Amino acid sequence: MKVISLLNLKGGVAKSFTAVNLGYELWRRGYRVLLLDNDKQGNLSKGYGRYDGEQTAPITRLLNGDWNDAEELIQQTDYNGLDIITANMSLFGAVWNLIKESPADMLGRYRRLMDADTEDGRKVSEKYDYCIIDNPPDIGLNVLNALMVTDEVVVPVKIDDNALEGLDIVAEQIEEAKALNPSVILKGVLVTCYQKTDGESAGLEWLRQEWENTDSVHYRKYPILGIIRYSKKAAENSFVRKPVYEYSPCCGAAQDYKKFVTSYTGKGR
Ligand SMILES: Nc1ncnc2c1ncn2[C@@H]1O[C@H](COP(=O)(O)OP(=O)(O)OP(=O)(O)O)[C@@H](O)[C@H]1O
Ligand SMILES: [Mg+2]
Repeated sequence: MKVISLLNLKGGVAKSFTAVNLGYELWRRGYRVLLLDNDKQGNLSKGYGRYDGEQTAPITRLLNGDWNDAEELIQQTDYNGLDIITANMSLFGAVWNLIKESPADMLGRYRRLMDADTEDGRKVSEKYDYCIIDNPPDIGLNVLNALMVTDEVVVPVKIDDNALEGLDIVAEQIEEAKALNPSVILKGVLVTCYQKTDGESAGLEWLRQEWENTDSVHYRKYPILGIIRYSKKAAENSFVRKPVYEYSPCCGAAQDYKKFVTSYTGKGR
């Protein structure tokens, strides 16, 4: 299983939207996918119509260590082979509880899940091809737990005058996390909500030049993994609890997530 975390300290850059649609597109290509909603806002859970604001959320139980079998935490979505561990505001309390634990316990909560056996005898990490983790716009103990099991961090960015702000902090945290999880890397940035205005075209060009400019502090640091166009359909339907491909398969965003997955996996459909 490959574990991909969507992470950026900035809010509203399409982390959750990317988690919803990246997970879906991988599933559509036949991969078995586990989604992990690591944000108390529960937007990934909402994106699949699985948000429940009443109960203690499975992600909270996972962080509290309050579970026995992986099946207690993993829920099916409407798509067979695409499963989810949902979140809600109860996650906030779990993060505070963790502070009382020893460092090894504090950071090993998601690892325990990956190593757990499922009903058919396979470990969670063997049952799925991909795990997609949607993170909040901060780095708390739940995000550090996610970094302990992550292979590749993808940073969604919106092109604005400070698109790379905060990225050095994310990169530093990943370096720190390597001491406990040597396999974690910062894979690159995914440009989201892209509109081909003069301003955004110039911003994108700047980002490309930063990558190539030997004098820049960003030289060869943050490769651009893909560009997702802004879609009016996606913006208008943010209340629709479905992947964008399901309600508007031809729109720019749906098409661009397909392209992104092809280049990310190195495989066409
Ligand atoms: N390609 C797109 N075209 C149009 N709207 C988009 C696109 N991608 C995301 N959006 C919209 O942008 C808004 C912010 O996206 P999203 O909630 O995924 O951001 P986020 O980074 O997860 O935010 P937060 O930091 O609060 O968790 C949402 O309303 C979403 O529907
Ligand atoms: Mg989000």
